[in-house]
Amino acid sequence: MKNTTLRSLIAVSSLVPATTVAADTASVTQTSFGRLRDGREASLYSLVNANGMKADVTNYGAIIVRLFTPDRAGRMDDVVLGYNTLEEYVAATPYFGAIVGRYGNRIAKGKFTVDGQTYSLATNNDPGGLLCHLHGGRVGFDKVLWSAEPLLVDNTPGLKLRYSSKDGEEGYPGNLDITVHYWLGNDNAFKIEYLATTDKATPVNLTQHSYFNLKGEGRGDILGHVLTLKASRTTPVDAGLIPTGKFAPVAGTPFDFTTPHSIGERVNAKDDQMKFGGGYDHNWVLDNQTGQLALAASVFEPSSGRTMEVWTQEPGIQFYCGNFLDGSNVGKSGRPYHHRTGLCLETQHYPDSPNQPNFPSTVLRPGAKYQTSTIYKFSAK
Ligand code: BGC
Repeated sequence: MKNTTLRSLIAVSSLVPATTVAADTASVTQTSFGRLRDGREASLYSLVNANGMKADVTNYGAIIVRLFTPDRAGRMDDVVLGYNTLEEYVAATPYFGAIVGRYGNRIAKGKFTVDGQTYSLATNNDPGGLLCHLHGGRVGFDKVLWSAEPLLVDNTPGLKLRYSSKDGEEGYPGNLDITVHYWLGNDNAFKIEYLATTDKATPVNLTQHSYFNLKGEGRGDILGHVLTLKASRTTPVDAGLIPTGKFAPVAGTPFDFTTPHSIGERVNAKDDQMKFGGGYDHNWVLDNQTGQLALAASVFEPSSGRTMEVWTQEPGIQFYCGNFLDGSNVGKSGRPYHHRTGLCLETQHYPDSPNQPNFPSTVLRPGAKYQTSTIYKFSAK
């Protein structure tokens, strides 16, 4: 399907009930996003909901390229960092907008043991000079071409993305089949549903790595964004950003976002944890440990009035405030992304879980299903 709109194709589909009112407003459009060096073509899918909110997604890395949300005056701005072209994503990206995996976040020394067998992964990151495995390795799920199928169900535009990760890929055991559904709801909620199955026991920890700037991408730093996290503890890290295995209460520390605080207020606090991350780059232990969808975080940007809520079934959230952005990535509007001009709220299991007996297990076994969902919901006040 090239340069076509799903709306016209779906008119006869049983997926759309005859009673749908705004059926002619929500749509999914597919265009080319360029070719990879090996000749394969990537697509760009534009999902537009009944309110005119738009998400552009490519099947390269399952990347959210653009996400337009209204401010308090109804003005749409693109609130995620990223590039206009496939080439730029292929050349250099700090995981802008991508699904990361097979294991999002860090695994100490790139080693883990499952059922008595030790596996070695690529060590592609070295905070504090200490080697670790980060976000799936050299060619993680952010750098592969997913198969994609546009959807329009109950007037909700969506995209079904699939990737089969081979046994041994990036050193991980087992053939892992992954399906990710993106949905752009008419309540302005961007929903991500993850599903995975394996034929050998393997750690799995998938997350979405969008960098948000609710002022609009390229419009300066995120230090004035006001954050609330439904989390009373973190998993403190060592100099290599690997958890020590302990849980630390946030009360009385710069990590306490149980009440709203601007990100800038305490980001430069003299604190060892803050020093290791160069600012916030830590996993918070969410108070909700039920596995059911619950509010995990909310971010309010005062000048635009935009608010983003994060809902998840996951037990943790990595809040990363873009400390490693240094202006070398020039974004969609031609402006460099400087230090702390985007923030990530990556819902997940805790970092290094495969080596941490105190943490909830991330091992998926044959016959079991990895199934989890996260929602980024937008409004303005
Ligand atoms: C991590 C950062 C890392 C970044 C990659 C985040 O998820 O927490 O430490 O530098 O991804 O750009």
